[in-house]
Amino acid sequence: MRVVILGSAAGGGLPQWNCRCPICETARRQPERVRPRTQSSIAVSADGTDWLLVNASPDIRQQLSDTPALHPREGLRHAPIKAVLLTNGDVDHVAGLLTLREGQPFTLYGTAGILDSVNANRVFDVLAADVVKREAIAMERSFAPLPGLTVTLFAVPGKVPLWLEGDGLDIGAETETTVGAMIEAGGRRLAYIPGCARVTERLKARIAGVDALLFDGTVLYDDDMIRAGVGTKTGWRMGHVPMRGEHGSVDALADVALGRRIFVHINNTNPVLVEDAPERAGIEAAGWVVGHDGLELNL
Ligand code: MLT
Ligand code: MN
Ligand code: ZN
Repeated sequence: MRVVILGSAAGGGLPQWNCRCPICETARRQPERVRPRTQSSIAVSADGTDWLLVNASPDIRQQLSDTPALHPREGLRHAPIKAVLLTNGDVDHVAGLLTLREGQPFTLYGTAGILDSVNANRVFDVLAADVVKREAIAMERSFAPLPGLTVTLFAVPGKVPLWLEGDGLDIGAETETTVGAMIEAGGRRLAYIPGCARVTERLKARIAGVDALLFDGTVLYDDDMIRAGVGTKTGWRMGHVPMRGEHGSVDALADVALGRRIFVHINNTNPVLVEDAPERAGIEAAGWVVGHDGLELNL
């Protein structure tokens, strides 16, 4: 199985267009100290020919341009991406669908809950129904988006997308709106969980023994955004478990035996993004890789 991290940043990317926080400013001025990153997406293939895109980021045009394996290679119009899977309805995971118009057939997969929010928004009808098939997938039921690739969706603690928040917001609920994906090919397993509000015993049991884990790295501490002075929201309020501190994922997952541990969906306020920061060294000493765009895994 080949896995390419197309975008390793959370919503907004790095640098974020309107942000002058020290990390965004360093990404602009010293990219060797803070690598710029695009928004959250990966591509997966069993044969290196046909690819599954997991989440369609607003930066998809640049991501496809930067990834030769995803360039058209036959006839006049062609795309190696044959299927797209959504793990939630966040803007950073669905806005890129609009870039995938132009009459190119593929199948769009997601839970009914996630596809409902896409179906309810008519702008996505630019993906004509007779060209792009939308297929709702039940959780815990394995399906094959491409020959040789098996995917199982499972609920993780989360919340509805920011743009669908209303009264009675239930943070940490395990519903169809935020899922993880277990992706298998040739006996190898990848767990992709870019959004997760809390590490539970059920989640730990689920991911035990995987060859690679790509996990929610939005914030280092629950109050990153407040410390950075850019906002008042905690990680919990955004549906993202912190790496460190109370309930931190690094400690919570320390006793789970698995292959590579890689953080993705990293917000531009997260200090681990600074290559020479002590926080970065600490995360690496704990056995984690801070994901970056273009990072490729051969599992
Ligand atoms: C998130 O991951 O919390 C969302 O992407 C936030 C957003 O939609 O901007
Ligand atoms: Mn996001
Ligand atoms: Zn910033």
